[in-house]
Amino acid sequence: MLGRVLLLLFLFGLHRASAADIDYCTPAPVGSYVEPLRFLTAEKAQYIAQAFGTPIYVYSMDKLQTQAQAALNFPNAYGLTVRFAMKSSSNAAILQTFHKMGLNIDASSVTEIARAVRAGFAPDQISLSTQDLADGFEEWVEKGVKINACSLDQLERYGRAFPGTSIGVRFNPGIGSGGTNKTNVGGPASSFGIWYEWMPQVKALLAKYSLTCNRVHTHIGSGSDPAVWVRAANLTLGLVAQLPDVSTVNLGGGYKVARVATEHSTDLQVVGKPVRDAFVEFYRNYGRMLHLEIEPGTFLLANSASLITSVRDIVSTGSTGYNFVKLNAGYPEIIRPSLYGAQHPLVTIPSKPNPRVCSYVVVGHTCESGDLLTPLPNEGSALGARPMQEVQLGDLVVVEGVGAYCASMSTINYNSHLQAPEAMLLTDGKVALIRKKQTFEQLLQNEVPLP
Ligand SMILES: *Cc1c(COP(=O)(O)O)cnc(C)c1O
Ligand SMILES: *[C@@H]1O[C@H](CO)[C@@H](O)[C@H](O)[C@H]1NC(C)=O
Ligand SMILES: *[C@@H]1O[C@H](CO)[C@@H](O)[C@H](O)[C@H]1NC(C)=O
Repeated sequence: MLGRVLLLLFLFGLHRASAADIDYCTPAPVGSYVEPLRFLTAEKAQYIAQAFGTPIYVYSMDKLQTQAQAALNFPNAYGLTVRFAMKSSSNAAILQTFHKMGLNIDASSVTEIARAVRAGFAPDQISLSTQDLADGFEEWVEKGVKINACSLDQLERYGRAFPGTSIGVRFNPGIGSGGTNKTNVGGPASSFGIWYEWMPQVKALLAKYSLTCNRVHTHIGSGSDPAVWVRAANLTLGLVAQLPDVSTVNLGGGYKVARVATEHSTDLQVVGKPVRDAFVEFYRNYGRMLHLEIEPGTFLLANSASLITSVRDIVSTGSTGYNFVKLNAGYPEIIRPSLYGAQHPLVTIPSKPNPRVCSYVVVGHTCESGDLLTPLPNEGSALGARPMQEVQLGDLVVVEGVGAYCASMSTINYNSHLQAPEAMLLTDGKVALIRKKQTFEQLLQNEVPLP
């Protein structure tokens, strides 16, 4: 008994010596901006963490609907179809939310088509623009899915399978723009779409298979410069002028969304207006009223979800180093900071009253120094320290701006971390689980033992 008490006292002493002597808070400069929670409240986040555990993605139905409505209000001269670029986040609950609002689908793979159909979309509401036109696309075309040929070979394959029909063609209009080079998908350094100078080859293939091109598609990048996007729209119309059967022009997505206070969002009304005017001008010149399609992913989702995480550890590398906060989420849940140097707000839900504002480097839960949530802007691997309210072990930290390209862009199961669950905050304030946490059995289920 005495031994146990002594041991406890000893351990308590050790604990005090290791934790209390080090101040893990480097106070941030006075007046540092601390990002606030977006649609969650501290109470709601705590409730969700209690009910479902962390890490967990929480989507806001209200935000999804507001953004979808803004997209549906995109300026247009002769009609508009909004396609949800479903690769940005593909949960059926999100698909169904947008389906109800009248959005259609931009699929980036044949499997995404199947997923959208399973969620309730009709095949003719889906268009496919893919880098990998997998076998089996034919049966979807027969059911009504629209294909945009993204290479001359895709056009050839489509022509062989469906001679005498109509098809869309994705062009690379010669310019691109993205928030980073990794998200720029236009211009000579990009493999996406058919290079605009290959128009004669496109026309030859259309003729060879008696195809009519009734849709032209361009998408120049995610987080594109609005001015470049408008210029690409103009170049796209130049291509449309050379293809007399085109009645629908799809200008892709890429509309920039500010996640942190220092970034700027693209105003769809502002970028849309010159494009609407260009469509009117096109009608005057060519007598064709073109139907407009846009394909936002980021715009609909970026700020429509939060990731609730827990602080697992806090470590210091001394007076010449940093204070690191380790979350129970990282690469598998949110790789954008490491991949693009993307800036995501990190919001402490402090358990301690009157927390200080400290400068932290926040890292994820995989064994990689690159698993970083606070990179310098546009520099995936350079440590940036962030002013945040002081954290204690076990506190919640909410990562904001995780709706697009987070849950769907997972390095799933790296370090054997189980895939995180997803939930939806409904408009009545209730929370619905929309994907359960992966189980240990599911992690292993496709492994086959050696004979
Ligand atoms: C990814 C993608 C989009 C959506 O881009 P965002 O930047 O998320 O708006 C739209 N169209 C195509 C063809 C895409 O590949
Ligand atoms: C993108 O690539 C171009 C050409 O390769 C290069 O000049 C430019 O600096 C790069 N931009 C960024 C932000 O990395
Ligand atoms: C592109 O813009 C230029 C100048 O702004 C204009 O003269 C031209 O008609 C536009 N092209 C198309 C196809 O709309």
